[in-house]
Amino acid sequence: MVKAAVLGASGGIGQPLSLLLAISPLVDQLSLYDVVNTPGVGADLSHINSKATVTAYLPEDGKGLEKALTGCDIVVIPAGIPRKPGMTRDDLFKINAGIVRDLVTGVAKFCPKAFVLVISNPVNSTVPIAAEVLKSHNVFDATRLFGVTSLDVVRASTFVSEVVGGSPTDYKVPVVGGHSGETIVPLLSQITPSVEIPSDKLDALVNRIQFGGDEVVKAKDGTGSATLSMAYAGFKFAESLLRALGGETGIVEPTYVYLPGVKGGEEVQKAVGGLEFFAVPVELGPTGAVQATNPLPQANEYEQGLLEAAKKGLSVNIVKGVEFISKL
Ligand code: NAI
Repeated sequence: MVKAAVLGASGGIGQPLSLLLAISPLVDQLSLYDVVNTPGVGADLSHINSKATVTAYLPEDGKGLEKALTGCDIVVIPAGIPRKPGMTRDDLFKINAGIVRDLVTGVAKFCPKAFVLVISNPVNSTVPIAAEVLKSHNVFDATRLFGVTSLDVVRASTFVSEVVGGSPTDYKVPVVGGHSGETIVPLLSQITPSVEIPSDKLDALVNRIQFGGDEVVKAKDGTGSATLSMAYAGFKFAESLLRALGGETGIVEPTYVYLPGVKGGEEVQKAVGGLEFFAVPVELGPTGAVQATNPLPQANEYEQGLLEAAKKGLSVNIVKGVEFISKL
């Protein structure tokens, strides 16, 4: 029996993500939590003739989060405000940091063994916040905490195919680092199958992968950021994890993890100047993240330059997240 929860289930990402989880044969119980509108979203989804039973909660009488989380195996968190034109992901910190802190406190209390997938931005800082909260409750297990960076990977294969032809599903692009602007590092030299990116298109392609989210923010013109593509990408990650929990082997997904706590992570950490959090391809298994692989030694000179910029940005973002909890 697999119980999944979506925290922020009534939002732009939360609703389509909940739909995808509700129709997944890998989910038996789906629990929805938000500060608004979950009764409606829950009633709607509960009419779908899929295997999952759907329950929905509000914070009412202080017990909503507890009921939503108790018994959960996997918790996906897209709660918080999205960007408007002109905003960076870091601009969201003020509001989303507290939201993530409070929701992960609920995880620590009511389902401490659950796998936690953080979507709320800025991911570079909200995952360190989640780790600190779990540590403070003595329930932190780095193999179970993931920053969801899959949208960068989804975008990368789409944009690469637009440059070199073929179908987006043909290409696997390792995207490492973090999840905002320059901290997003696509390793285009390591695309499988290998492709040649014309040198006059390289800068623009890398820039588009790093700032692809801005295209959506601009096009939505003040009404939000990526929701449908994010729900798809978030679901794909959750599905990979659920398949791995079910015993399927060899499933590898890039995700933002706490390196010292994941096998193979120390090698990555050395390669990135000691950063504790970094997105790299991670093999998933029945207990979560079983092995981080280090694709960085193969990065070419151009990509090494991108990595240097990413490291600078990430170190600031990580400290900001950690200090938000440690200075309380
Ligand atoms: P939205 O505003 O449409 O939905 C957010 C939902 O969170 C709302 O329903 C709101 O009521 C709920 N919420 C707020 N405070 C809450 C709390 N304390 N507990 C439970 N629910 C709460 O926003 P959207 O577009 O769904 O984006 C959500 C987050 O995901 C944003 O921070 C956004 O930046 C981030 N995001 C992350 C991406 C990634 O690649 N990791 C990509 C796109 C967005």
